[in-house]
Amino acid sequence: MIKEKLSSIGKDIYTVISELVQDTDIINLAKVSPEIPCSDTLTELAVKYIKEKSAEYTHPDGLLELRKAISSSIKKKHGVSFDPQTEITISAGATQSMYTAISSFVNEGDEVVLFEPAFNSYVPAIVSNGGRPVFVQRQEPDYHIDWEAVQKLINTRTKLIIVNTPHNPTGAVFSEEDIAQLKKITNGTKINVISDEVFEHIVFDRQKHQSILSNEQLAERSIVISSFGVTFNVPGWKIGYCIGSEKLMAQIRKKHLFQINTINTPLQYALADYLNKGVDFSNIKKKFQANRDFVVDLLKDSGFEIIPSKGTFYQLLNYRNLSDEKDTEFARRIMDEYGVALFPLSVFYHDSVDNKILGFSFAREEKVLKEAALRLCKIKKQ
Ligand SMILES: Cc1ncc(COP(=O)(O)O)c(C=O)c1O
Repeated sequence: MIKEKLSSIGKDIYTVISELVQDTDIINLAKVSPEIPCSDTLTELAVKYIKEKSAEYTHPDGLLELRKAISSSIKKKHGVSFDPQTEITISAGATQSMYTAISSFVNEGDEVVLFEPAFNSYVPAIVSNGGRPVFVQRQEPDYHIDWEAVQKLINTRTKLIIVNTPHNPTGAVFSEEDIAQLKKITNGTKINVISDEVFEHIVFDRQKHQSILSNEQLAERSIVISSFGVTFNVPGWKIGYCIGSEKLMAQIRKKHLFQINTINTPLQYALADYLNKGVDFSNIKKKFQANRDFVVDLLKDSGFEIIPSKGTFYQLLNYRNLSDEKDTEFARRIMDEYGVALFPLSVFYHDSVDNKILGFSFAREEKVLKEAALRLCKIKKQ
C-alpha cells in the first residue's frame, strides 16, 4: 500500500485562483508570474542557444560558465568569494534547490523552524522528508521576527531554520539586527540555515538586501537560494541556484544528482552569456519600486490600509475598515462583485490565521494595475 505523505496538502492558492478566473474578465492580481517582459537580449540568446546547444546535457552541478558568472556577481554584490566548482549548483528553479536542500538536511523527527506567513513550498518539503515544522508567526504590522520567541523553540532536535528575505508575501526585509540575531541563536549549535533570497534584487527605499552570504559565520552553516525566474522575469524557464560551503554543497549534490540530474542546457548558456555582458541589477529594483509607488498612490483613497511593501513585488492590504468577513470570504466577494482577484493571507499559515489581510502582485502592466485599483476603490464598508 502507498503511504500518503502529504494528505493535508491541496492545490496552492495561485492555482486555485487561476482556475476560478479562467475565461472571465476578472483581473487576477494574485497571479504569481510577472506580466513584465524579459529583456530582448536574453530571449535572443535563448533562441540562439536552443539552435546551437539543445543536443547537449550539461554537467549535473550546472554549466560551469553560468556558475562562474554567478560567483562573480556575488563577489561584486557582497564582496565574498564562492568557488563555482564546489560551492554553487544550478537547479530547476529555486523550488528544486529548496526541496533538495531540505531533503539533504532533514531526517525523520528533525524539527525545522520556519516563519509564517510562509511560502507554500517549504512545509510539503519538510513533511515529505519526515521533518516536523515548528512555526513562528511574524509580528504585525511590519511582519518582523520576534527572535526571543525563536530562541525559546530551539532544542536538540532543531535541525534547520528556513528564512526568506525579502519576504514573500509580506515584503518584509531583514535588517542587520536580524542577521545578528540569527547568528547569535545558531552560534554553538549544529543548526543549518536555508535562506530563500529569490527577491534579492527587489528591495525598496534605499535599503540594502541583507544576505546571509555576507556574514561569514552564518554563511558556513547556510545554503542561500536564488532564482533567475524572479530576477529576469522568466519564471517559466525554471532555473535557479543554490550557494553554500563545499561541505554542505557536497551533501546537496548527492541528492541533486538523482532528483534532477541536469538542468536544461540552452537556457543556462543564455543566462551565462547575459550575465557576462554585464547586467545592471539596479534597474530591476527601479522598475518594481515605480510599480509599488504607483499602486500605493492609486489605492491611497480606498478603504484599505496600506503599509508600503519594503521589497518583492507583493503588497498587502488591511481591510478591517471595510468588512469583518473572513479573508477567504472577502477575497471571494471582491472577485465576484468587483472583478479583482487578491490572495487571502490566511492561506500562508498552517492554522489559517485571519488578520483581515489580502495581498496582490504588482508585477503587472500599469494599465492593469490602474483598472484593478479603480475597481478596488469602489469597495465600501458593509
Ligand atoms: C519566496 C519564493 N521562493 C521560491 C520561489 C520559487 O522560485 P522558482 O520559480 O525559481 O522555483 C518563489 C517564486 O516566486 C518565491 O517567491
